[in-house]
Amino acid sequence: METKTALITGGSRGIGRELVDIFLESGYRVIATCRDKTKSKFMENKNLTVENLDISSKDSVEEIQNLVEEIGVDILINNAGITNDKLFLRMSESEWNDVINTNLNGVFRVTKLVMKHMLKKKWGRIINISSISGAMGNPGQTNYSASKAGVDGFTRSLAKELGSRNITVNSVSPGFIETNMTENIVNEEIIKKIPLQRLGKPSDISPLVLFLASDESNYITGQTLVVDGGLFMK
Ligand SMILES: NC(=O)c1ccc[n+]([C@@H]2O[C@H](COP(=O)([O-])OP(=O)(O)OC[C@H]3O[C@@H](n4cnc5c(N)ncnc54)[C@H](OP(=O)(O)O)[C@@H]3O)[C@@H](O)[C@H]2O)c1
Repeated sequence: METKTALITGGSRGIGRELVDIFLESGYRVIATCRDKTKSKFMENKNLTVENLDISSKDSVEEIQNLVEEIGVDILINNAGITNDKLFLRMSESEWNDVINTNLNGVFRVTKLVMKHMLKKKWGRIINISSISGAMGNPGQTNYSASKAGVDGFTRSLAKELGSRNITVNSVSPGFIETNMTENIVNEEIIKKIPLQRLGKPSDISPLVLFLASDESNYITGQTLVVDGGLFMK
């Protein structure tokens, strides 16, 4: 069977690192990216390529274009993201822009990189890691919620554009997951509101992403799939 290649942004830690590990264990070839690869240790694996990439920078994205086109990416996981929380009244335009530029514009830039190969192959999987904050809202996160709601809208429109080419586009929307991102914001009050009464782990997210990347998910597109322990029920 052909070995498929997954590009995973923000592979240095948290959810992205878990995804890098599970995709390698499942036999995929992986291109993992982070802003400074000298600062993160990755497991030795002949199927792993680690690249520096700052998704908030057009120049940095252009720098990996040749490599990405040469290898050919079958599965894109837009995982890299940041928060910069502040109540709206105190939020500066630069704090707003930083988050939108990374979480939303970054998804636009990296997705552009992989299009040619997927269209040529008439097969592709684009999986965007959004957030329950995009649908539910969260005080202090107007910038982050707007960016993630934007990612979900992007997912639906792109799914409609690419469906006829056999490329699926979905979002996975986590609730509170134990990573660096949440270490200073989660407290007992939040945990009480989660029906499953605990924070999620990166390994609660990865099996769904692995499934969405597989052939078995071939009739699912344009969806936002929530993994949040029941925190937000519509
Ligand atoms: N943790 C949660 O509760 C939670 C909930 C909902 C959604 N999410 C989403 O899940 C994704 C992963 O979050 P996480 O919790 O794993 O966060 P994390 O532990 O803080 O990791 C974030 C990752 O993104 C990378 N990154 C940040 N800015 C980047 C940039 N400008 N260019 C390239 N890479 C960048 C970081 O790499 P370097 O710093 O090494 O460059 C790191 O690998 C994010 O999109 C986040 O919004 C997380």
